[in-house]
Amino acid sequence: MKAPITFAIAGFGDRGSTYASMEKLFPGKMKVVAVADLDPGKVKKARQLYGIPEESCFASAEEMLEKDRLADVLVVSTMDRQHVGHAIPGLKKGYHILLEKPISPELDKCRELLETAKGCPGSKVIVCHVLRYTAFYNTLKGLIAGGKIGDVVSICANENVAYWHQAHSFVRGNWRNSEETSPMILQKSCHDMDILTWLTGKKCTSVSSIGGIQLFKKERAPEGATPMCLGGCKAKEGCVFDAEKIYVTSPKTGIQTGKGWATSILSVENTLESTYRALREGPYGRCVYMCDNNVVDHQQTNLLMEDGSTVSFTMCAFTEDCYRYFKAMGTQGEIEADMKSNVIRLRVFGQPEEVFDIGAMEADLKGHGGGDSGIIGDFLDMLLHDAEATERTTTLENSMESHFIALAAEESRLRGGETVDLAAFKGRA
Ligand SMILES: NC(=O)c1ccc[n+]([C@@H]2O[C@H](COP(=O)([O-])OP(=O)(O)OC[C@H]3O[C@@H](n4cnc5c(N)ncnc54)[C@H](O)[C@@H]3O)[C@@H](O)[C@H]2O)c1
Repeated sequence: MKAPITFAIAGFGDRGSTYASMEKLFPGKMKVVAVADLDPGKVKKARQLYGIPEESCFASAEEMLEKDRLADVLVVSTMDRQHVGHAIPGLKKGYHILLEKPISPELDKCRELLETAKGCPGSKVIVCHVLRYTAFYNTLKGLIAGGKIGDVVSICANENVAYWHQAHSFVRGNWRNSEETSPMILQKSCHDMDILTWLTGKKCTSVSSIGGIQLFKKERAPEGATPMCLGGCKAKEGCVFDAEKIYVTSPKTGIQTGKGWATSILSVENTLESTYRALREGPYGRCVYMCDNNVVDHQQTNLLMEDGSTVSFTMCAFTEDCYRYFKAMGTQGEIEADMKSNVIRLRVFGQPEEVFDIGAMEADLKGHGGGDSGIIGDFLDMLLHDAEATERTTTLENSMESHFIALAAEESRLRGGETVDLAAFKGRA
């Protein structure tokens, strides 16, 4: 294909706008030419940022997909349960698809998309498991696949969600309720199921999982708490989840210090005034003990792999920062690493420790440790050079495995931790 590869964005929210912003990183290779979002403010913003002609701006993905193909790539960055409904007509129009995860929380829908994609061999579908495109995980993969620690016997991994991120996304926000979106193990941790199995290069044969909501429920509300943080709450001062602290005054996440993590999600204007308005009127101002959330705040999942080795994975809301931790223990050594320090420590038994400082090696660690730009760069190269998918590419087929494991883990959790055989689960789900 010829450069620039043109992009149509379906859903100009946090993810859609992030992928669109890659136009600046890949000048001449990528151009955003069409946009659709339910929010006219977001469509206007995209139009101004990328000079999109009015006739290529749409009030919904459905409206955009009624038109003939407008670009080479359709970015499907709408919400979890909408992905398949937007990707299938996109494929039928001849778009290549950059598909946000999860594919769908319903396995039937995942399979329907897979079947449709098989019938459209001219179109590539890439699922946004961005971690596979980071220097951090590629270095780990190189060490493990290169046999540095012998055969991997056990992996222990943590997804530290961070208390403010949990409160934002999984208590007050978009992914608080699995009926509307997906269970936590699929929504947040399908990345982990994907990356951990990719790193080992082994198939998972069975899975068990336990977890629940420990804190974010009505009975844990402190005395004097009110439904809205700005509604005269008497517990506000001592509450770390107070929305005014998280979105306004916190030096780490508040808009006042200029960091404003996630305040752009509260309002398109993203000002102090619009943030306060959102906290008074919208879902992000709610008391974390009085929301309609049902997704877990902690969950532990164990995977048994085909060769008898094991993976133990813990997702937990109650951490200061948001990052992943990883430890692999092999027959000849161990690897310990975390994405906060971005340092990987290799200890081959009996030899001096080797340290890989990813921060010093890679310039761009922004956006999932460089994964956001990594996936776009890889996809652009695939399209420009008409290259085939590699073992690393997050094709639909590769991504399906993480969905099977995550949904089997959720079934196990709902059954109190009962072991679920993956082959049997695939057969009946
Ligand atoms: N790959 C990753 O690491 C990663 C990280 C976060 C979120 N996600 C996934 O990305 C998807 C989007 O998440 P987000 O954080 O951008 O959410 P968001 O709410 O910021 O964006 C979703 C956008 O879709 C728009 N939308 C909804 N229905 C639409 C329709 N019919 N037509 C057009 N636009 C429509 C909404 O108005 C909103 O702007 C989710 O499925 C989420 O699970 C992936």
